[in-house]
Amino acid sequence: MPEIKFYHRPAVPMEMHKVKIVQRLELLPAKQRLEKMKEANFNTFALHNKDIFVDMLTDSGVNAMSDEMQAAMLCADDAYAGSETFYRMNDKLTDIFGIKHFLPAHQGRACEHIIAVHFVKPGKTVIMNYHFTTAKAHVTSLGGKVEELVSDAGLITASDLPFKGDMDLDKLRACIEKEGAENIAYLRMEAGTNLIGGQPVSYANMKAATDIARAYGIPTVLDASLLQDNLYFIKTREEGMKDKSIREITRMIADLYDLVYFSGRKFGFGRGGGCMVRDEKMFHEMEDYVTMYEGFLTYGGMSVKEMEALIVGFEESMDFDVISQGPQFIRHCVNELVKCGVPMVTPSGGLGAHINARELAPHIPDEEYPAGAITVAMYLCGGIRGMERGTLSEERNPDGTEHIAAVEMIRLAFPRRVFTLSQTEYVIDRVKWLHDHAHLIGGLRFTHEPATLRFFTGKLEPTSDWPEKLVAEYVKDFGEDQ
Ligand code: F0G
Repeated sequence: MPEIKFYHRPAVPMEMHKVKIVQRLELLPAKQRLEKMKEANFNTFALHNKDIFVDMLTDSGVNAMSDEMQAAMLCADDAYAGSETFYRMNDKLTDIFGIKHFLPAHQGRACEHIIAVHFVKPGKTVIMNYHFTTAKAHVTSLGGKVEELVSDAGLITASDLPFKGDMDLDKLRACIEKEGAENIAYLRMEAGTNLIGGQPVSYANMKAATDIARAYGIPTVLDASLLQDNLYFIKTREEGMKDKSIREITRMIADLYDLVYFSGRKFGFGRGGGCMVRDEKMFHEMEDYVTMYEGFLTYGGMSVKEMEALIVGFEESMDFDVISQGPQFIRHCVNELVKCGVPMVTPSGGLGAHINARELAPHIPDEEYPAGAITVAMYLCGGIRGMERGTLSEERNPDGTEHIAAVEMIRLAFPRRVFTLSQTEYVIDRVKWLHDHAHLIGGLRFTHEPATLRFFTGKLEPTSDWPEKLVAEYVKDFGEDQ
């Protein structure tokens, strides 16, 4: 939606929907939050949702459904094989993406599993603009390796580059020449990106990169999980695109790829996933993996009710009003925080607002997980749950030393159609307070460190009594009851 004009004040982002069903929230007082954080061993993944005021951990599987999505769920066709729901889903995807064949899967990483099992052999390379954790894990677990060829400028956290997810085309050509085209399993473009701050990829870059891959006979794969945000940015930021409809841009993008997969927990506002395959022979070769790992070919591990909701959700993702809401709220949040002096990833992207932890708390060494510590502090000082995206989420080097992350960020995800502008303003306010009191935040260390995916299940403790001191300062400003 182009911005709605205001008469007496600068415009604010506008919800193009109204609330019909609500979930009650509770704001625990800060001292109780400190107790809950201790019970969770200073790992925000271990918090109970009922103890969180504004949950900005992720946008995955927590986007709000529309009335029409919910209504569609009542019309699901229950069948192990041959469900009408599946055929409706296949037809809708073919209509939008122009790809005939569809493999259903229970979520995005299941598609990554199927694609990797099909293409990756030990020693093969998968080229990506940037990795996503699960996309990379499936490649490396099969003995493959990942080359990330996002342009260097894309990794500069604060800039005004409109498409920081773009691939460096010179690096792409050089990589293919070095590895040999026959050793490259596929080119995977993630549009939009996740781990570099929800930054988009331009259509021009996708076209150029896939042209190069095709010239070498390398299969092209699109991760469309965050496509709805990327479509918004192509329409609003890319030269020559503003007069094209979202549907036209989607088709132009899809036409570039042999395979398009998505997490339905993001794209389509539901829960599920799937993989569209252009070539019929390749599609039949891949079918076996669905029946082996996911479920029968006409549900792939998804509930038929969720599939019906997704069918409507896909159509809503073609609606510019609907897909504008996320990026516009994120832009508001980022811009306001920048005005407050908070070091944000700029320009604002999709998925969420991202804070540069190293700049917010430069006194915390990387080995004491600044982003993890700030995430803890944000729960203590506001009941807000963000996600650590930094060294804590990395695995140690083989010699046991820390693998220091390239970017150390806190992600405040904006699940679509969930939070109001006043909740967004509350988050801005508390982040500003934390920024002004950042010197009180200390580090974290593990008391129990699992070997893999340690950020999910690890137990931590503060390196001093900084949480008590921080909470005491917070209570001074906001009182005992908040
Ligand atoms: N690709 C991208 C770009 C993603 O962001 C995700 C998930 C996946 C694939 C995997 O999909 O979760 O359905 O298996 N991102 C979530 C997040 C987990 O919180 O950002 P999935």
